[in-house]
Amino acid sequence: MYEMLPEELLKIKSLKKYYADRSPFGKLRGYLKAVDDVSFVINKDQVFALVGESGSGKSTIANLILRLIEPTSGEIYFKGKNIFTFKKNQLMEYRKAVQIIFQDPFASLNPRMRIIDILSEPFKIHKIVEKERIESKISQMLNMVGMSTDILNKYPHEFSGGQRQRICIARALTLSPELLVADEPLSALDVSIQAQILNLFQKIRQEVQISFLFISHDLKIVKYFSDVVAVMCRGKIVEMAKSEDIFCSPLHPYTKLLISSAPELRIVREKERKHDYIERKNIAPDFLNQIDLSLGCVFRTRCLYKVDICQQVEPPLREVSGRILACHNDLFT
Ligand SMILES: Nc1ncnc2c1ncn2[C@@H]1O[C@H](COP(=O)(O)OP(=O)(O)OP(=O)(O)O)[C@@H](O)[C@H]1O
Ligand SMILES: [Mg+2]
Repeated sequence: MYEMLPEELLKIKSLKKYYADRSPFGKLRGYLKAVDDVSFVINKDQVFALVGESGSGKSTIANLILRLIEPTSGEIYFKGKNIFTFKKNQLMEYRKAVQIIFQDPFASLNPRMRIIDILSEPFKIHKIVEKERIESKISQMLNMVGMSTDILNKYPHEFSGGQRQRICIARALTLSPELLVADEPLSALDVSIQAQILNLFQKIRQEVQISFLFISHDLKIVKYFSDVVAVMCRGKIVEMAKSEDIFCSPLHPYTKLLISSAPELRIVREKERKHDYIERKNIAPDFLNQIDLSLGCVFRTRCLYKVDICQQVEPPLREVSGRILACHNDLFT
């Protein structure tokens, strides 16, 4: 028997999104590299998780995939086609095939619309008019997310956060998308509800052919819902591997930190920010344009395993025992 090769759905190649960093008087000081040379592939039926602390560039990648923002450079291919070259019709098809669920189910639903209108909106946008098809699809999707058609005449304020997120998921699934981008879909919910929504994602995965880009800063959650994990630090992927490899034997010091001390991350980050600020202040403003502040490894200021070269040279991504890693330290090879 031949093993089926995985089919590529979405491919991201050398993607960059830089924002100009200006002084209060408008002078260009440098660039904030929100996404810096990121490449990865999401296969059909795969759950691809993107993890990293706040500000690492996760949502920027989601927004680039959804074509809500333009990249500084790089490409995104959907089923082999560059999405940034799509004409109107192709873009319409693409927007049907790629759906998103956001973090905040309160902000995602229009408070003045009834659930029936919310759930039929995607059909109107895509000019699908057959009434029977719409009704049957809506009831099928509500069933899938564990809700009944009794709710159709109600308004969003009549539901809890978890129920609203279910409605958002139903809406995202109505047009049978091929990729669901879920940007921190659980972080606004109570812990007890998080588990229910996570179970719902598992169920969807079993019942529907769909790939996920699952974005979370919480590795506890990612552990239960991912095939492949990419760990992001300051706009860069520093480690990418099969889920079990990441959790059983993390290699990159940043991945190790994320796994071992998740609750402390916020504190560490505040310190790091302060450090960055001092670093900047000590450099005369005129030099800021020329000096690349991101010289060296993005994680060097916090790394327990750093070696001399980490200060000056950015570690390239390389393959190490079946995974991809950006670290100079030979300990991890
Ligand atoms: N429109 C913008 N203009 C300037 N900087 C931006 C803009 N959007 C994002 N950034 C910056 O880009 C970096 C990455 O932001 P992004 O929202 O992608 O991070 P994230 O990983 O999603 O964080 P979080 O976990 O907090 O959602 C941050 O430093 C952010 O401040
Ligand atoms: Mg985000």
